[in-house]
Amino acid sequence: MTKTEQLYEGKAKKVYATEDPQVVIVSYKDDATAFNGLKKGQIAGKGAINNRVTNYLMQLLEKEGVPTHFVEELNDRETAVKKVSIVPLEVIIRNISAGSFAKRYGVEEGIVFDEPTIEFSYKNDDLGDPLINEYHVLALKLATREEIDLIKAMAFKVNDVLKKFFAGVNVDLVDFKLEFGKTAEGVIVLADEISPDTCRFWDSTTHEKLDKDRFRRDLGNVEDAYTEMLRRILG
Ligand code: TMP
Repeated sequence: MTKTEQLYEGKAKKVYATEDPQVVIVSYKDDATAFNGLKKGQIAGKGAINNRVTNYLMQLLEKEGVPTHFVEELNDRETAVKKVSIVPLEVIIRNISAGSFAKRYGVEEGIVFDEPTIEFSYKNDDLGDPLINEYHVLALKLATREEIDLIKAMAFKVNDVLKKFFAGVNVDLVDFKLEFGKTAEGVIVLADEISPDTCRFWDSTTHEKLDKDRFRRDLGNVEDAYTEMLRRILG
């Protein structure tokens, strides 16, 4: 599998075409941004860690019956994935209050919910990824009713699998963001990444933050947190 031309460069990844029209190569960068690109920096080693963590979790989810875009890890920071058209939604599941939820509803961080919550943001950098509801998704034709229902069921299944997995490595899965894509055959699969960039991970004992909030909030020891999560996940 070899790269041909670059198709896209995002904030944390580049995407390349390959000789196979159904497969693209994702290349993870060390670049980090927050607050819709307002804060910029680098996290040394992040690209390689997010690549390996994402691939491990995608393969775990496949085994548990969640279809994903994963094809093959190529090297430290590059992975072959199915070419999909991304459904322009950020699908956020929360188990514990934190981040924008705590801010929006004026509650403290750390409230453990009886049931996980789900919300969608419209993936649109110019608009700052605004919160969107299912009726708006339908009105804007971002997805069909069937696709929304499938995405919700898949997202809660991902939560069940990952919550259990992370509990086993003494980590509370606070919240996370997923993205879904549609393959050439029209099948919805889990896409993008699952990493300390896109999840909140708190040590179950100390409640220490082991994710990108260390970068967003200038908490220090950012690289150490990513390395610690790699160690716990891959063993
Ligand atoms: P939030 O509390 O800021 O809404 O974030 C919820 C989760 O989504 C958190 O685990 C971080 C993740 N996230 C992303 O992956 N990308 C983003 O652009 C944002 C804002 C959050």
